[in-house]
Amino acid sequence: MDLIDAIKGRRSIRKYKPDPIPEEALQKVMEAVKWAPSWANTQCWEVIAVRDPKVKSDLATALPKTNPALSSVTDAPLVLVLCGKKGISGYYKGQPATVKGDWLMFDTGLAMQNLCLAAHALGLGTVIIGMFDHKKAEEILGLPQNVEVVAMTPLGYPATEGSTPKRKELSEFVFYDEYLKKE
Ligand SMILES: Cc1cc2nc3c(=O)[nH]c(=O)nc-3n(C[C@H](O)[C@H](O)[C@H](O)COP(=O)(O)O)c2cc1C
Repeated sequence: MDLIDAIKGRRSIRKYKPDPIPEEALQKVMEAVKWAPSWANTQCWEVIAVRDPKVKSDLATALPKTNPALSSVTDAPLVLVLCGKKGISGYYKGQPATVKGDWLMFDTGLAMQNLCLAAHALGLGTVIIGMFDHKKAEEILGLPQNVEVVAMTPLGYPATEGSTPKRKELSEFVFYDEYLKKE
């Protein structure tokens, strides 16, 4: 699949078939995470692949009932929980190197986008889920203090196509030479 087509064609998928994911496809998705860029190549991400229906059900209790992705956490054959090790990305000799502090959210975001695009290229669906009780998810998964849960996504074959939410026009967010300056 052409990269630009993949970027434009990927949609958030919230309905899944129960069909299992071939091991080879899962490895390709994980490889896409592996090759994401990161601060000084620190690779602070960790991924928990949740297959156990009991753990998936427990994770679903961390989502608010209003989250439109709720059913996907139990319906999809797999849920990938993206975690980040704290105090590594954006740090130099133990001190934050910039005013932004920990770049964990940025690097795990890049990893997640790689994951979602690779899944899409393989015919698999994803939806990034950020709206949930992170502390509860961390307890369910037994995370240590130095690691945090950032986001999760179900992974599986789409049962329906995702709708395409409208995007802003380039003229609304691209400026030249200074803020708000248009060509
Ligand atoms: C950081 C982040 C958190 C998100 N959290 C949720 C979520 O909790 N539930 C949900 O249904 N979708 C969630 N989404 C998916 C967005 O709603 C979706 O990406 C957006 O509407 C654009 O649609 P598209 O992905 O199909 O292009 C999240 C996306 C991002 C990037």
